[in-house]
Amino acid sequence: MISTVILPVAGLGTRFLPATKSVPKELLPVVDKPLLQYAVEEAWRAGIRHVVLVNSPKKAGLEAHLRPADPELVAELTAKGKQDLLDALLGAVPEGLKVTVVMQPQALGLGHAVWCAREAVAGEPGFAVMLVDDFIDDTTGPGCLADMVALQARTGAWSLAVEEVPREHTNRYGVVSLAGERITAMVEKPAPEVAPSNLAVVGRYVLPAAVMTALDHVKPGAGGEIQLTDGIAAVLADEQVQAHRFAGVRYDCGSKFGYAQANIALALRDPALAAPLRAWLPEVL
Ligand code: UTP
Repeated sequence: MISTVILPVAGLGTRFLPATKSVPKELLPVVDKPLLQYAVEEAWRAGIRHVVLVNSPKKAGLEAHLRPADPELVAELTAKGKQDLLDALLGAVPEGLKVTVVMQPQALGLGHAVWCAREAVAGEPGFAVMLVDDFIDDTTGPGCLADMVALQARTGAWSLAVEEVPREHTNRYGVVSLAGERITAMVEKPAPEVAPSNLAVVGRYVLPAAVMTALDHVKPGAGGEIQLTDGIAAVLADEQVQAHRFAGVRYDCGSKFGYAQANIALALRDPALAAPLRAWLPEVL
């Protein structure tokens, strides 16, 4: 049973400068909720009750979002009878969620960020990892991570979420080779000419503990960073790791285009925004 998710949030977020000069990318809102909160909610729906935030010493606001609400603000909203806002404030963190914060002193890569959480998951058979800026909008079920956690509980198989990408984009992703649904090899950011497929890994992982041990030995790889892909690749011969083709739509909220798409898609579903937005869109188009 997977009970812990690692959320690496210590990256530099350079593609969103100047917004990320002082606001962490993971706190940027899609409509009215920060990306971090969508991820925590998806993990909660997967039955996960322990979040390990791998943070940078320079991104304090992230921890603040997961702390209990400010009692003064609670009192103020209660006194004014603003129940909707109170619900939004108190609902920001599921009651009973355990949050552990560990630091990644320097952004040395995703594999290094995950490795920084090793003590928090020690003794567990496996763990989940979510990339908060990969926002997966699944309106049909409990969500991508829930399906992956259920697969592990049912069959024992570990998994990575994958989706097909245009071949010219393989150099932005980890790319997998498959035998059936089993992942047999994985390479980080291959050039389109040498990519083993166009199936890219996106930010949901349910991994065996062996990956953490493998990360002890991973050296800097693609882009000079310590890559999670290399840690996973090292265990593929011994561990059954499957490709999970998820339901729903992934928005790459680490890019401005994906972030804009997510905001438009969710605003068009928001009861208060949908009608005025539909009326206004033809005007701007
Ligand atoms: P990204 O590569 O998308 O994020 O990492 P980034 O490096 O912050 O962004 P850009 O490319 O400069 O715009 C995916 C996730 O992994 C975290 C990031 O915070 C992000 O949420 N990450 C990445 C770490 O925690 N540590 C790292 O060393 C690298």
